[in-house]
Amino acid sequence: MAGCVARYIRQGKACVTVTCAHVIPKGTIWSADARHRSSHVSDAQLVEVIKRETELSTNHLTPEIKLHLITQKCRLWHEHGDTSPFQDPFWAFYWPGGQVLTRYILDNPKEFLDRRVLDVGSGCGATAIGCKMVGANLVTANDIEPVALAAIRLNATANELSLDVNADNWIGRSTPRWDIVVLGDMFYDLEFANTLFHWITRLLDEGKTVFIGDPGRAALKTAVDKLPMQKVYKTDLPVSTRQENNGLTQAWVWKCINS
Ligand SMILES: C[S@@+](CC[C@H](N)C(=O)[O-])C[C@H]1O[C@@H](n2cnc3c(N)ncnc32)[C@H](O)[C@@H]1O
Repeated sequence: MAGCVARYIRQGKACVTVTCAHVIPKGTIWSADARHRSSHVSDAQLVEVIKRETELSTNHLTPEIKLHLITQKCRLWHEHGDTSPFQDPFWAFYWPGGQVLTRYILDNPKEFLDRRVLDVGSGCGATAIGCKMVGANLVTANDIEPVALAAIRLNATANELSLDVNADNWIGRSTPRWDIVVLGDMFYDLEFANTLFHWITRLLDEGKTVFIGDPGRAALKTAVDKLPMQKVYKTDLPVSTRQENNGLTQAWVWKCINS
């Protein structure tokens, strides 16, 4: 199996292989844990490797945002995972839930203008970049994966803006600095989704608004009865995103708010 399986997205009881190009083995130069990053790798070198292994792409639902992504033009898309310097580079893909959420933000600037937004699980940073573009007052791109933070900074620069970037784990905690929490494609696991439901309930009780972008994953479907959530947007996914995410053709944005 090693070297031919990329990401698994749980859809119902089955695990679906999304693509066989995203294979990243463990024990590579940059692990998900910064403590394991090779000491002789500087931030500048990390940025150079991200640039080398990705394409600056606008081939997604928000072409006004440039993103360093692993695409079919990149060597890592085609080669054996043993050759990859990255472990689990979720940040190198623009997930369908993040795409639809960012599209919604760009098309509905008034909802985010002058607001303070926390993008949890920011990945490539696109949703946070979208919030910044529409005039949010404070935008924080949060991800627990250190390489994602480097990619987010790089992508922000590619779009000629800067972002507040944060590596803390906010899930389960109050978020006093922000009014809005955005979650792009975070419901990829049933157990994790349950944790998120409890946290979102707490955030809503504290007066926050939560936006969720999701391509119909099973774990989120279980939330419909648990959360005060309203569908505010639906779109078809671009062909390239469909090819990358077997079986997913559409995506939705949900707004959660206590009335
Ligand atoms: C499926 S990706 C989604 C990325 C991005 N939102 C998008 O839609 O393209 C999930 C992201 O969540 C991050 N993540 C997982 N658990 C997290 C946590 N507890 N706090 C912050 N980020 C987390 C992962 O590192 C990964 O970048």
